[in-house]
Amino acid sequence: MNSYAKKKFLPMIRELKWTDMHDLIDNYYGYYDELEDDPDIGLAFYRIKPEYRNEVEWFASLYEEVISGNAVAVVAEEDGRAVGLCDIHRIRPNSELDHVGTLGIAIIRQYRNRGIGKELIRKALELSRGKFEIVKLEVFAVNSRAISVYRKAGFKEYGIFPDSLRRGERYYDQILMYYRLDGETG
Ligand SMILES: CC(C)(COP(=O)(O)OP(=O)(O)OC[C@H]1O[C@@H](n2cnc3c(N)ncnc32)[C@H](O)[C@@H]1OP(=O)(O)O)[C@@H](O)C(=O)NCCC(=O)NCCS
Repeated sequence: MNSYAKKKFLPMIRELKWTDMHDLIDNYYGYYDELEDDPDIGLAFYRIKPEYRNEVEWFASLYEEVISGNAVAVVAEEDGRAVGLCDIHRIRPNSELDHVGTLGIAIIRQYRNRGIGKELIRKALELSRGKFEIVKLEVFAVNSRAISVYRKAGFKEYGIFPDSLRRGERYYDQILMYYRLDGETG
């Protein structure tokens, strides 16, 4: 798909709302279902699928972090439904690590590769200015698409964590990346 087509069909990119909770929880369960088709899916899962109430707690915690200034969270919305989320949250508030945020992102399968990831990250980094100095992330070394998006957004690699994720019999390396919001020179 060319960049014009991507832009034409780009959904609304906006900040998280409380009413996104059910969509985002449904999306999360969908990623578990994807594991059957794509054993390499680039998200780290709990060994037992969390119960719905655990997911409500996760969402409430994220929402609280946003309100208290310890996170930014951006959603892609299409036809009134949240189809993707990018969040950056403070690793440890009120500590010597409080200038660093950790980024996570996931978009439901049918909306991938349309330029949404790129836009979610752009908006999340924009909202992070003045809140964080450095944003970091971990990405599966096999997740070429995510790595490509992060590199294009300006993230730089600073290492590899070998075998950092164990899924069944298989171990995955993760690439460690960071982005500097302060001066942006790397
Ligand atoms: C990773 C993810 C967030 C990226 O978002 P996206 O909306 O699909 O990505 P975009 O459409 O913005 O950009 C994809 C880019 O990767 C490129 N790309 C696609 N497949 C690729 C591949 N296999 N290898 C390298 N590059 C690839 C595309 O050409 C595009 O680049 P372009 O904009 O220069 O054309 C999304 O695919 C996703 O949610 N994946 C599943 C969950 C996940 O892996 N999350 C990341 C955890 S670290």
